[in-house]
Amino acid sequence: MANTITSVVASDELSKSWSPFSAEYNAVERMTIPLVQEVVYEVNQLSPLDAPDDIAFDNGCGTGAVTIILKTAFPNLKLISTDISEGMIEQVLTKVKERGWKNVEARVLDAADLKGIADSSITHTFSTFMLCLASEPHQILNEMYRVTKPGGILGFATWADPYFGFWTTPWTKACRELDPEYGPPYVMEPAWTLLDSVGMRLQEAGFKEVNLHHATSMWQWNSVQEAVDWFLEAGHPRNVVISRSWTERGRDIEEIKLGFTRALAEAYEQDDGKMAGPCIACIGTARK
Ligand SMILES: C[S@@+](CC[C@H](N)C(=O)[O-])C[C@H]1O[C@@H](n2cnc3c(N)ncnc32)[C@H](O)[C@@H]1O
Repeated sequence: MANTITSVVASDELSKSWSPFSAEYNAVERMTIPLVQEVVYEVNQLSPLDAPDDIAFDNGCGTGAVTIILKTAFPNLKLISTDISEGMIEQVLTKVKERGWKNVEARVLDAADLKGIADSSITHTFSTFMLCLASEPHQILNEMYRVTKPGGILGFATWADPYFGFWTTPWTKACRELDPEYGPPYVMEPAWTLLDSVGMRLQEAGFKEVNLHHATSMWQWNSVQEAVDWFLEAGHPRNVVISRSWTERGRDIEEIKLGFTRALAEAYEQDDGKMAGPCIACIGTARK
């Protein structure tokens, strides 16, 4: 398989919401990469990724967390990397070019309709931190099952907390100082984040030997201020939901900045002025 540059744009609100954010996604990727490394390790333990006819799939690849780890460890592995967002795929294609990776097909594709990927064609399907943020998770899971080879492995990760407490806990503390009635919104559905529920959904889609567990990555920032600025300005689609839950009450973001900065510092600031806090995921494997 040669490197291909294709753009089959599934243009909807979702792809539009992630695309402007793609240049800022590297800040997230530095926190997802250790979790993704663990997923790749667990998959490789079950079914080594070095057979000549292996084909891996990074579904909802973002800026390429799985892709980077796979191509670094297994340079000859055939890999299809797809995402609904054109901006994310542009970032992956830049990495493919800069790092000289071969056998990577990166293209825009909606995971709810994996056009061009044949039934039972993938030996190792990966999907990390996409399903819990996507609009049609049932259909996406069915599509992942369809394209995976019988006996093939799924390497999987979702966030484990529907509120994504890393941001929401300090944010809520700050909001309640000004408005005790404030309640935070879910930023992801409990059904696609809570461990038992996610495991059940994988089984309902047909996957067997589902083995999910919690894992934590510490999200590091150079300073609390850097984190506050990124949260408010980078445009992560789910952080926008959190901010909007305040402005929809007729309040101003400026009012909350100081309290949010203080609450983040209380929770996560370190002696050297840097900041680090835990993000909890459900990660693991399953087999078709
Ligand atoms: C949080 S990022 C995860 C990226 C990467 N897998 C990682 O682990 O860092 C979620 C990605 O899912 C993509 N996404 C959301 N819905 C999608 C869909 N229906 N089909 C394909 N990609 C989708 C977004 O564009 C975004 O790049």
